[in-house]
Amino acid sequence: MDLETPWLGLRLAHPVVASASPLSRTLDGIRRLEDGGVSAIVLHSLFEEEILHDNEATLHLSSAGSESHPESLGYFPAVGREPTGPDRYLELVRRAREAVAVPIVASLNGVTETGWTDFAKLLEEAGANALELNLFHLPVAAGWRGRAVEDRCEHVVRAVAKSVSIPVNVKLSPYFSAIGEMAERLVAAGARGLALFNRFYQPDFDLEKLEVERSLELSKPWEMRLPLLWIAVLHGRIGASLAGTSGVESRDEVVKYLLAGADVVMTTSALLRNGPAHARALVDGLRDWLEARGCRSVDDVRGSMSQRKVANPEAFERGNYLHILQEYRSPYQL
Ligand SMILES: Cc1cc2nc3c(=O)[nH]c(=O)nc-3n(C[C@H](O)[C@H](O)[C@H](O)COP(=O)(O)O)c2cc1C
Repeated sequence: MDLETPWLGLRLAHPVVASASPLSRTLDGIRRLEDGGVSAIVLHSLFEEEILHDNEATLHLSSAGSESHPESLGYFPAVGREPTGPDRYLELVRRAREAVAVPIVASLNGVTETGWTDFAKLLEEAGANALELNLFHLPVAAGWRGRAVEDRCEHVVRAVAKSVSIPVNVKLSPYFSAIGEMAERLVAAGARGLALFNRFYQPDFDLEKLEVERSLELSKPWEMRLPLLWIAVLHGRIGASLAGTSGVESRDEVVKYLLAGADVVMTTSALLRNGPAHARALVDGLRDWLEARGCRSVDDVRGSMSQRKVANPEAFERGNYLHILQEYRSPYQL
């Protein structure tokens, strides 16, 4: 069974990839992910805020005392300090590249256009095989216009893609008015791949303390419906790799994303719940499913249930929504 999978111009042994998570925070964690059977590892994100904070600290250190001791700039490199978040991240990329054979995808998480995008080059030099860009932007301030949000995403992708020669994968928000147009703009700006979708963590309310509560719940399989829809719609229509992310728990979700047209399927929650070795169960499950249907490779089925291929393409459109609502029956309905 040939599970080999092209993604972002890389060749993966199979389509199950570890998405960004705390499992990749340490070298041991990264080794465990590889042993667990994933075909590529997206590292946890380095945040724009960490890079900017580090830049400011460096500036502060380099200028501290410079008036009273003009020579101080000269000895700045010798000033010892603890490795910062960005330094540690670069070191992790370097060591991960040496320690494992699967591709390492560094992850940057940011939204503004300047001051941090150059860091992408350092990640490439550290040995990252690709870069994922997570554009988590909540335009809650009054006055943000939709077009401005889209422009900003495009500019960030262009700035990062221009600064590296490794492929850039963009983890996209589902909250755009026109996902198709946004996807095209990001690809035109230099994205070699899109991961659908970024999962947002909305706050909750604690009704006892009357406080806004921060909590993280791992995903459930039903959460794959929205990315599944858009992967099925975009497959064959966009010049970029597609990654399905959110809601993968069993081989069923893996198979569904591939049928929709995903090149790879990413998983975090299932690995956090069941351990990294769950990746191998997902791959074995995929192989069994394909063999039971007489397939020889994953390419035999990829995209076979995309909107362009299914017999009823309107299943992905407004008509389907109408039918779903009209067909619903409750025992309390008179
Ligand atoms: C504890 C935790 C930490 C995460 N950290 C990151 C991160 O650093 N960067 C990122 O892009 N996504 C991060 N994610 C999101 C995952 O990569 C993934 O997109 C999301 O969990 C949906 O996939 P899943 O349904 O397989 O969990 C994190 C998720 C969890 C649960």
